[in-house]
Amino acid sequence: MKYLLATVFAVAAIATPVFAEEDTPLGKEMDKVNKAVKSVNRAIADPAQKDVNLAKLADAKAAMEKALTLEPAMAKDVPAADKEKFLADYKAAMQESLKTLEELRAAIADGKADEATKAMEKLTKSKKEGHKKFKKED
Ligand code: HEM
Repeated sequence: MKYLLATVFAVAAIATPVFAEEDTPLGKEMDKVNKAVKSVNRAIADPAQKDVNLAKLADAKAAMEKALTLEPAMAKDVPAADKEKFLADYKAAMQESLKTLEELRAAIADGKADEATKAMEKLTKSKKEGHKKFKKED
């Protein structure tokens, strides 16, 4: 029984870091961005969904603006000498994503489906790049 408990604790200790970033304040904002952007993507060219899409994009924007004020969990692993640059780069990348989100909003507001699709692709690309640089492996 003692060994069983020891094993359970050991496994929990090893497994914890894998899930640790899920509940970070930034992770929560990212989840909001994800939900909003995904539902916009499903109805991106549907004029009947324009107002709903715009409302979702406002949610995504608010969450990304909050994300700008937060630090990636990975920042803790960055050496002190590199931290300032790491955080500045993170903010710049998030600002870029916010700009792309604005392009997406404008395209949808103007009913320009092609431009909206392009902005959505750009957003997906910035997400991938942002995660590669600033998100811990999971
Ligand atoms: C449309 C754009 C984006 C979407 C949909 C998105 C989505 C997500 C999702 C679903 C997670 C996992 C959250 C969880 O673990 O519960 C996440 C985490 C994360 N994302 Fe994004 N993301 C986007 C853009 C970005 C950008 C541009 C950056 C960096 C500049 C970024 C940095 C991060 C980081 C650092 C985490 C890990 C959380 C932490 O370190 O605390 N994301 N994102």
